[in-house]
Amino acid sequence: MALRIGVPKETAAGEKRVATVPDVVEKLVKLGFSVAVQSGAGDAAHFADDTYRAAGADVVDTAAELWARSDIVFKVRPPSASEVGLMREGGTLIGFVWPAQNPELMQQLAAKKATVLAIDCLPRQLSRAQKMDALTSMAGISGYRAVIEAANAFGRFFNGQVTAAGKIPPAKVFIAGAGVAGLAAIGTAANLGAIVRANDTRAEVADQVVSLGGEFVKVDYEEEGSGGGGYAKVMSEGFQAAQRAMYAQQAREVDIIITTALIPGKPAPKLITAEMVQSMRPGSVIVDMAAEQGGNCELTVPGEVALRHGVTIIGYTDLASRLAKQSSTLYSNNLLRLTEELCKTKDGTIDVNFDDDAIRGLTVLKAGEVTWPAPPPKLPAVPPKPKAAAVAVAAPKGHGHGAGEPMSMRSLAIVFGVGVLLFALVGLYAPASFLSHFTVFVLACFVGYMVIWNVTPSLHTPLMSVTNAISSIIAIGALIQIAPPLAGAGADRPNALILGLAVVALALTAVNMFGGFAVTRRMLAMFRK
Ligand code: NAI
Repeated sequence: MALRIGVPKETAAGEKRVATVPDVVEKLVKLGFSVAVQSGAGDAAHFADDTYRAAGADVVDTAAELWARSDIVFKVRPPSASEVGLMREGGTLIGFVWPAQNPELMQQLAAKKATVLAIDCLPRQLSRAQKMDALTSMAGISGYRAVIEAANAFGRFFNGQVTAAGKIPPAKVFIAGAGVAGLAAIGTAANLGAIVRANDTRAEVADQVVSLGGEFVKVDYEEEGSGGGGYAKVMSEGFQAAQRAMYAQQAREVDIIITTALIPGKPAPKLITAEMVQSMRPGSVIVDMAAEQGGNCELTVPGEVALRHGVTIIGYTDLASRLAKQSSTLYSNNLLRLTEELCKTKDGTIDVNFDDDAIRGLTVLKAGEVTWPAPPPKLPAVPPKPKAAAVAVAAPKGHGHGAGEPMSMRSLAIVFGVGVLLFALVGLYAPASFLSHFTVFVLACFVGYMVIWNVTPSLHTPLMSVTNAISSIIAIGALIQIAPPLAGAGADRPNALILGLAVVALALTAVNMFGGFAVTRRMLAMFRK
């Protein structure tokens, strides 16, 4: 039976986003669901009731009616206690939940026997999960909006200009923390023409900062800042002191500071001290994107704009909601992608399949049973190790071969033995000319396999690297066919058919190889401006 998805009006004060936009309603209907939207749910994001109706949704008047009649509820913010009260027993909720911060909410939802998919618990390291990654889409919007807020509060241009009335230097912007939000801020500020500098404790982001038009400023202290899973860790005292000295110097030099530094499960690191604020020029602006987690600046007032020592300190905690139309659109696309994963059958039903790492990760309650925190996803985030190498490494250990384990020494010996036997049989009965071709064929298969699976992917995707490796082997084969025979070798020229096939093979592999590079270039260009 087709399920009904309900989209209530968000109740948190000042929240303008809506969990589903009319375009997505249409696609959910195509997946077989019926969709109900609470009247006025999209008003603050400029999606009127009528556009929802036109997209195929029922518009219902009250929240009580909506929650009671929906099998699945799509939300942005975690539901309030009274909203959970309205929820249907055994219903499904999809949205931001933050189970670690909201234990009471988890209990209330469990009492309702709810199935809850917390979009904030998505295992973001799975490349398959990127299309559902609402944290990333919201952080990107917040980073953009932070720059717009800074520009609004800043009394000058961002770009340098030479006018009849005088020469104007470009604004200098310093970004602390170059994660998703920080990188979006770097790109936006650079596009507006500012000089952008950025710092992060994870050294690997330096290239990304540069590719977006920023300059990476290093802390003069050797320490790796990666805490695993792409996130940061708390740094040593020594590092923090060196970082403070560098930040103090930046504060004296720049006009705008945007801070985005967060460490999972910890309060936001305090990076901008009161003295640094005091050292900034009057009229400067700080946007503290970590305000909700306590702020990166000592003087931030979460949710407010404060003026201290002539510096405007913006501590808004609702930056994504301030771009409600954009954030609602991206968020509802993330939820649509998740729904597609849940409803592969396209018949308006969902299957919360725990064999799927992404779905397992974000399911925090299943029919009232707490399933959070999920075990780490089984799949590695990095491209899988080449199989041949895994066998070579595992072989010396030699014992057991359970499901998924590399081949043991014994099985390898058996495979090898069977191969030798087959080869001997062919040798005994097949004509001699066949045998020599067959030997070359088997060796070619072996060498080709080894070469291709030992390629270390350096292109945009491992798949592209592998197909390029295959193409290059084909290209070598074709070139050997086309090349004139070596002097004195006495070999005949290949016949026209072989020559023709070799030329076609060469042309096709060239298209694949150069196409791979061209696609990679275009992908990289999308991130450059
Ligand atoms: P976040 O919001 O937790 O932190 C923001 C940034 O602050 C991070 O770059 C962090 O290194 C930095 N930071 C923390 N402490 C700092 C300090 N004391 N000084 C300076 N900087 C500090 O991180 P976010 O934006 O959620 O992403 C973290 C990482 O996860 C990024 O590398 C991102 O590319 C990666 N990611 C990977 C995904 C994937 O593999 N599919 C998906 C989403 C994110």
